[in-house]
Amino acid sequence: MMIFVDACFKKQTPYTPVWFMRQAGRYLSEYKEVRKLAGDFLSLCKNPKLASEVTLQPVEILNVDAAILFSDILVVPLEMGMDLGFFAGEGPKFADTIESQKDLNRLRNDAHLRLNYVYDTIALTRQNLAEDKALIGFCGAPWTLATYMIEGQGSKTYAKSKKILYSNPKLLHALLDKITHNLKYYLESQIEAGVNAVMVFDSWASALEKSAYLEFGWQYCKQIASFIKQKYPHIPVILFPKGISGYLEEIDGEFDVFGVDWSTPLEIAKAKLSPKYTLQGNLEPCRIYNEESMLEGARQILDLMKNTPHIFNLGHGMLPDLPRENAIKLVEFIHNYR
Ligand code: CP3
Repeated sequence: MMIFVDACFKKQTPYTPVWFMRQAGRYLSEYKEVRKLAGDFLSLCKNPKLASEVTLQPVEILNVDAAILFSDILVVPLEMGMDLGFFAGEGPKFADTIESQKDLNRLRNDAHLRLNYVYDTIALTRQNLAEDKALIGFCGAPWTLATYMIEGQGSKTYAKSKKILYSNPKLLHALLDKITHNLKYYLESQIEAGVNAVMVFDSWASALEKSAYLEFGWQYCKQIASFIKQKYPHIPVILFPKGISGYLEEIDGEFDVFGVDWSTPLEIAKAKLSPKYTLQGNLEPCRIYNEESMLEGARQILDLMKNTPHIFNLGHGMLPDLPRENAIKLVEFIHNYR
C-alpha cells in the first residue's frame, strides 16, 4: 500500500502524504558530496548508482512519502540530439538552438531508446525503496522544453519562442508535436522500469497569455496524460502548469493530480478543481527559512484541505540554502496533524 498513490486516486488516507519538488539537491550536504564524486551535474544524471543514491537521500533524511527520480527535464532534448551543458552559476545551455524547419528535422524521434541510464536509475531505486514509498517519474512539458530548445537557455522574456509562436505557429506546433511524441514513449519506458506515478512539469506556462497557453501548452500536456492513462490506468498522472491561476476554470482532461504553485491561492484551486482532481501543493518554499512562518503556512493549507483529496508539497522547488532541520520538522508536522 502506498499512501501517496492512494491520495492520487482520492482514497482516504491515515494522514496527508508529503514530498517536495527538488527535494534532492544542494540544501543537503549529502547531495553535494555525491555530486562532487560524479564530477558535473550531467554525469550524475547519467550514473544510475549515484543518481539512485541521491534519489533516496530525501526519503531517508526527511521521511517524505515519495521519492522523485533524480534526473533533469533537459535530458530529453539532449537525447533528441541537442548539445547540452550545465554551467556553474549559469544553469543549462544548449550550444545549438532550434530556429527553423531545418533545425527541427535534425532532431531525433527516438530519445526514449537512448535514455537507458534513467531506466537503470529507476530500477535500482525501486529495489532499494521501502514498499510503502512511491517513486515518481517525470518529464518537462512540451512548451517548457521548447523554450529551452529555442532560446538555448533560461529566459526572462521568452521573446524568441513567442516570436515563432506569433509569426510561424506551424513551426512551433511541429516542434511541440515532435517533443510530445518523444515524451509519451519516455514516460511509458519510465513506467515499465518501475515508477509508481508520473509528473509533467510545465514550469514556464505563465509566460503565455491564456489563449496561447491553451493552444501551445496545455493541449500537449493533456495529450501526454491521456496517452498514459489509456495504457496505464493504475499509474497516477500529475500535471503542474506553473502560474495559470487566472483561468483554472479552463482546466480539464484525463489526469489525476493538479499541481498548485505557490502564487495560486489554494482556496481558488479547491473551488475550481476539487474534488475532480487531487490537489498537490502549495507552501511558498521561502517560508521554510523561518520555522514559525513555515508551520503557520502548513496549518492553513492542511485546515483548508481537510476532507479534500490532497498531497502536501511546496508551491515550487526547494532552494539551495533552505535549512534542512526545518524541512524535517515540516514533514513530521504534516504526518502528525489531525
Ligand atoms: O528532486 C527533484 O525534484 C528531482 C530532480 C529534478 C531536477 N530538476 C534536478 C536538478 C527535477 C524534477 C528537475 C526539473 C527541472 N529542471 C525543471 C522543472 C521544475 C522546476 O523547477 O520548475 C526545470 C525548469 C529544469 C531545468 C534546470 N535544471 C535548471 C533551470 C537548472 C539550474 C537551476 C539551478 O538551481 O542551478 C537545472 C539543474 C538542476 N536540476 C539541479 C538539480 C538538483 C541543480 C544542479 C546542481 O547540482 O548544480
